[in-house]
Amino acid sequence: MHTEPAYSEIFLTRCAFVIYGKKVYKSFSDRLPLEGAKEVLDFGCGMGTVAYYTLKRLESGRLTCLDISERWLKACRKTLRDFPDVSFINDRAALENDCFDIIYCHFVLHDIQESELEEAIPDLVRALKCGGVLVFREPLKEIQKLVTIKRLLSENGLILKDSRITDVPLMGNSLESVYMKAEPAD
Ligand SMILES: C[S@@+](CC[C@H](N)C(=O)[O-])C[C@H]1O[C@@H](n2cnc3c(N)ncnc32)[C@H](O)[C@@H]1O
Repeated sequence: MHTEPAYSEIFLTRCAFVIYGKKVYKSFSDRLPLEGAKEVLDFGCGMGTVAYYTLKRLESGRLTCLDISERWLKACRKTLRDFPDVSFINDRAALENDCFDIIYCHFVLHDIQESELEEAIPDLVRALKCGGVLVFREPLKEIQKLVTIKRLLSENGLILKDSRITDVPLMGNSLESVYMKAEPAD
């Protein structure tokens, strides 16, 4: 079960995008290792705040924006209206196996209940190519969720490659981590 956002929340997020676009969303997108990436997934894309900057950097790759909310997806289509080659989906069950080079989750995983994370994280790992990278940024104050997220990523075979703490306006100190799906051993 999920609830759709109020239109006022979408309006306030659009204001935050205008005010903090470069400082929050562009800076996160700029750190994504997009060079050579063919397929990229924005999981929990919201109104396309990070996707907007990712698309400016993606040269020959394709972006898929996934959100459980139709209302956020509609707002995302509007934000990304100048970019022709974007897919929008609302169901992670539609993700194919081993198809993304990069999956990123920007302030999404902490919003998902622990019981659903137990299913969502294996689904994301399944959709990631071997050698592919998963990046998340979530508020540090959500310590219990972070413990669960890190446990599930590691139990599902991802290896931690990098971590940093950034101070994000409105969200406070946040943990940003980069994980890689290892190539199978010979
Ligand atoms: C705080 S917003 C972040 C949106 C965007 N990533 C950003 O940083 O602006 C969280 C988003 O995750 C989406 N979301 C929550 N649970 C989800 C799920 N199980 N699957 C996909 N999207 C989900 C919400 O609908 C919402 O758009």
